[in-house]
Amino acid sequence: METRIYYYTGTGNSLWVARMIARELENVALVSLADWEEGVELIDSPIVGLVLPVHIWGVPRRMVQFARALKGLDPKYVFAVAVNGGQVSATLVQLKRILEEGGIALSSGFAVTLPSNYIPWGGPGSAAEQERLFQSALPKISGIAAFVGSLRAGPVEKGPLWQRLLFSSIYKLSFAKISGWDKDFWVDEKCNQCTTCVKVCPAHNVEMNGPEERPIWKHRCEQCFACLQWCPREAIQYGRKTPKYERYHHPKVRLQDVLLKSTARNGGKGD
Ligand SMILES: Cc1cc2nc3c(=O)[nH]c(=O)nc-3n(C[C@H](O)[C@H](O)[C@H](O)COP(=O)(O)O)c2cc1C
Ligand code: SF4
Ligand code: SF4
Repeated sequence: METRIYYYTGTGNSLWVARMIARELENVALVSLADWEEGVELIDSPIVGLVLPVHIWGVPRRMVQFARALKGLDPKYVFAVAVNGGQVSATLVQLKRILEEGGIALSSGFAVTLPSNYIPWGGPGSAAEQERLFQSALPKISGIAAFVGSLRAGPVEKGPLWQRLLFSSIYKLSFAKISGWDKDFWVDEKCNQCTTCVKVCPAHNVEMNGPEERPIWKHRCEQCFACLQWCPREAIQYGRKTPKYERYHHPKVRLQDVLLKSTARNGGKGD
């Protein structure tokens, strides 16, 4: 039976988790949701995996839309992995509800903690701390692969009650405003017009503009932070503090792996 794992990633953590699960299963297709508008085919696979980053204590908009689009399909087994920086909160409960509204049962849902890419709150932690997270994720991911490989069902993982109550309201209040939060992006003098930021943005939200051909953000942002984190010159900033924070992407994921299909053939000068 074929398994299709649909993943959404800004900085590669979710792609790495999807790959590590796929390695331990047979007959798996990995499908990026970054290229969804370009026509990701919705095949009625018997086994479906959804791998996503946690954004603002919930499901990122693109995955909300994708989960809704699954309505009408008839997968036999659906699992999800919410890749996070330490607070999964009610993300998987929310995803389960969205799927149920479309008549699809989420059979299992897991949380995997990796370095945080939410740079407005700081860098990803020291190299030792990042390595500790990668190492502690490995047995967890193997356990997930064994669980879903045997098509077992179980309750989805969730954060403590206080987290779910407090942060789910923040998620709800934020959801409609996220598109416009790109107003805090700016570009410094290090930009060399390589266009990597344009080529990694799943929302097609970054355009090169003006006499100096610098990126501008078009207010349909998903806050994945791919543009900032993959900029090879570290020229993209967000708010006031990011000039001093370290950039992050998963060390096993390359720029080539996250370029939009529509731009990948032009190459990415950045990596
Ligand atoms: C906008 C945004 C919001 C985030 N919110 C949360 C959160 O609520 N809880 C959490 O644990 N991590 C949060 N993170 C961290 C990411 O979930 C984490 O770094 C994830 O591994 C990134 O996956 P990716 O590399 O596949 O994009 C957030 C990251 C971003 C960019
Ligand atoms: S990725 Fe960085 S250097 Fe390249 S165009 Fe964008 S801002 Fe400029
Ligand atoms: S503008 Fe940047 S943060 Fe917003 S969706 Fe595009 S790549 Fe992600």
